[in-house]
This record gives sequence, C-alpha cells and structure tokens, in this order.
Amino acid sequence: MAEFTLPKNSRIKKGKHFPAAADAKRVKTFQVYRWDPDSGENPRVDRYDVDLDQCGPMILDAIIYIKNHIDPTLTFRRSCREGICGSCAMNIGGTNTLACTKAIDDFKGDIKIYPLPHMQVVKDLVPDMTNFYAQHAAIKPWIHTESPPPPDKERLQSPQEREKLDGLYECIMCACCSTSCPSYWWNSDRYLGPAILLQAYRWLADSRDEAKGERLDELEDPFRVYRCHTIMNCTSACPKGLNPAKAIAEIKKELVGRQSL
Ligand code: SF4
Ligand code: SF4
Ligand code: FES
Repeated sequence: MAEFTLPKNSRIKKGKHFPAAADAKRVKTFQVYRWDPDSGENPRVDRYDVDLDQCGPMILDAIIYIKNHIDPTLTFRRSCREGICGSCAMNIGGTNTLACTKAIDDFKGDIKIYPLPHMQVVKDLVPDMTNFYAQHAAIKPWIHTESPPPPDKERLQSPQEREKLDGLYECIMCACCSTSCPSYWWNSDRYLGPAILLQAYRWLADSRDEAKGERLDELEDPFRVYRCHTIMNCTSACPKGLNPAKAIAEIKKELVGRQSL
C-alpha cells in the first residue's frame, strides 16, 4: 500500500485506518474526508481497505459497503444509483463527479474522496446546498405565460423548438460544475454559477415561455452572469456531458443582442 501523506500544513489530520480481512485478495484503499461538527474536532481523513470481491464496481458501491460493513458513522447523500438524482456528487480522485457512475477500476492506487469543494460541509461528504438551491429558486425555474392556454390541448412546440432544449433539460442539478468553477468559489454569494445559469438558459430557450424580457432583466448584473470568465472548468466537470459554458455564452449573446436593438 502507498504511504499515506497529506499536504504540508494541512489542517486535515490522518484519521483511523480500517484494514480489510486477512483473507481479502483484491483490496482497495479509500481515503475519505470525515468531519463531524458535533465532535468539536478538526476534519480528518480515514482510510478504509475494501475487499473488492465483496462490493459492486462503482465508487458509490464501495461507500455503501463501507457504511454497511465497516463504519456506520460515514455520512453521504445518494438516492437513484444511476446518475439521475445528482445527490451523490462529490470530489473523487481530485475531480467532481457522481459516485454512482464512476467506476472503481478507473483509479490506480488509493482513491481519495472529499465533499464537493468550496461548499460549507454539513457532515463528512455532505455539502450544504442551501445557497445553490436558493439561487435556483431565484431564476424562477418554471414556465411563465401570459397568454391563455389553448382550450383543448397543451402548449405545443415544433420539433425544432423542442430541439433547442437538448443539452439543457438533461441537467440533474448535481453542482459538479459550479463547485469546479473558480469564479463561483470566490463569488457564490453574487455569481449564479454554471449550473444555475444553464438552468436559466433552459427557460430562455423554451419557445413556450413568455417572460424572456423579465428573465434577462434579472440576469443583467455585473455579478450574476458576468463573473464567468470562460475558464471552462464547468464543462469539463459535468458528469452528464453538458456544456454550461456554452449556455452562459448564449445568455451573454441574448443580453448583448437586446442592448443593440
Ligand atoms: S466557463 Fe464560466 S462558469 Fe464555467 S468554469 Fe469558467 S468561469 Fe466558471
Ligand atoms: S450542468 Fe452538469 S455538472 Fe452542472 S449541475 Fe447540471 S448535470 Fe451537474
Ligand atoms: S445516486 Fe443519484 S446521481 Fe448518484
């Protein structure tokens, strides 16, 4: 097993080590961030040796195995186990991603698992998403209409109009992109960040929505959109293969377009 080291001056301490059973043949070590605010202690990194013959192939399988068989105090979020709910987003091997769709075999050596970066931590791998969800609510993520609905059918879209939502509607609000964005790290109180801006563009691009002007008014602000400096970390981080940076560029185009009218 590789020597376990933490960066010099790290305030995170080496924690406990949970070795695998002596007869385990395929052992993988998971270095997992632990912090319990009720303990009054600093964060630590615990090491769990997992017998891979006893658990499934994904990182989330290993975390669930650790909780069920090694250390029931480990705390994390998960729900769907198939990349749909977004709740198992965390930093794995230095990259923000979904634990349920990331394979253990993708990593050589020990696997480091931390909560999403630059978020307050509630406990262990659980970040505080309060601000993120409040920002989502602030863009009013539902359809706004003034015209009466057709009496006998839904509000329809042409196939071409519907196609404009591809690459947007698939977002699962996991926050992998926003928490990999340096602008969001430093300005998350005022900059909406790539996930929320992709959502904002999803409604701007919807042919049925009738509040485009109001939506753009809300976004026209030195911080809400323009803190994006096109660093592109967001697009590299998205585990669903979406392109939030492109959505932000589209919003900027809309804002500039109406200034020149
Ligand atoms: S492109 Fe914009 S939103 Fe994406 S990481 Fe860079 S600054 Fe953040
Ligand atoms: S754009 Fe991708 S990374 Fe960002 S919240 Fe949506 S699914 Fe997650
Ligand atoms: S558990 Fe739902 S996305 Fe991973």
